[in-house]
Amino acid sequence: MFRSQQIQIKNEEQVELMRGAGLVVGRTLELLRSAVAPGVSTGQLDRIAEESIRSAGAVPSFKGYHGYPASICASVNEQIVHGIPSEAQVLKDGDLISIDCGAILDGWHGDSAITVGVGETDPRYLTMAQVCEDAMWAGFAAAAIGGRLTDISHAVEQAVRAGGSYGIVTGYGGHGIGTEMHQDPHVLNHGKPGRGPKLVKGMALAIEPMITMGSPDTVELEDGWTVITKDRSWAAHTEHTFVLTEDGPWVLTALDGGRSRLGDTVTSKQPVA
Ligand code: MF3
Ligand code: CO
Repeated sequence: MFRSQQIQIKNEEQVELMRGAGLVVGRTLELLRSAVAPGVSTGQLDRIAEESIRSAGAVPSFKGYHGYPASICASVNEQIVHGIPSEAQVLKDGDLISIDCGAILDGWHGDSAITVGVGETDPRYLTMAQVCEDAMWAGFAAAAIGGRLTDISHAVEQAVRAGGSYGIVTGYGGHGIGTEMHQDPHVLNHGKPGRGPKLVKGMALAIEPMITMGSPDTVELEDGWTVITKDRSWAAHTEHTFVLTEDGPWVLTALDGGRSRLGDTVTSKQPVA
């Protein structure tokens, strides 16, 4: 299951390049966060994302990925991940949208996702989105040199369970990332700690919990991409890319590198405005 010999370990210069890609993604998602509103189509969000990525000299990594037609995934309400943006899909007050974005800069990838409410969203859904995000951060906090991969998986699961009664989607998960968007290892969002490859300096991973208000069972739509909940309960999905440094996890797609969530002791890297 784990093919640790295939994990691409990044040197410091490569990590700096990944930070560049991470910032393009992080800034694009902040732009999208402020663009989300009732009446805005997911197709519009896609155009904003592509313009933001290209104007930074980067390339949208999703576009053309196994034939994927857009620069972001926009997954609304019961859609969990990989929703295809369209002009026809217009956001309504009370919706919940996950926006997933990836970019390549100088050959290196960043990958991140946010889940946000549209207008006035039921607080129960916003709480789910917060639990999902907090679980992702619990995953980073559990990533230490000398630990094992599933320490992260376990921390994510524990945080979701501590946060309430949610379905944890198990068919999808996080991944290694570097000169490709998806590399070994696969990172489960659940499981026992202390298994899998050793966590070493220079390992870069995207952690992406997906949780639902109901059952964790999923269905893929006929478009070949969109993944929805089988029971049509609403879902949340959050993602960041991080690299393990001597000082701890550096969250490359977070504008502040993860400082505000992980603390100064964890990463000594300079935050970027
Ligand atoms: N960002 C997604 C992930 O985290 C992948 C998007 S699939 C694509 O794995 F086709 F849209 F690119
Ligand atoms: Co990803």
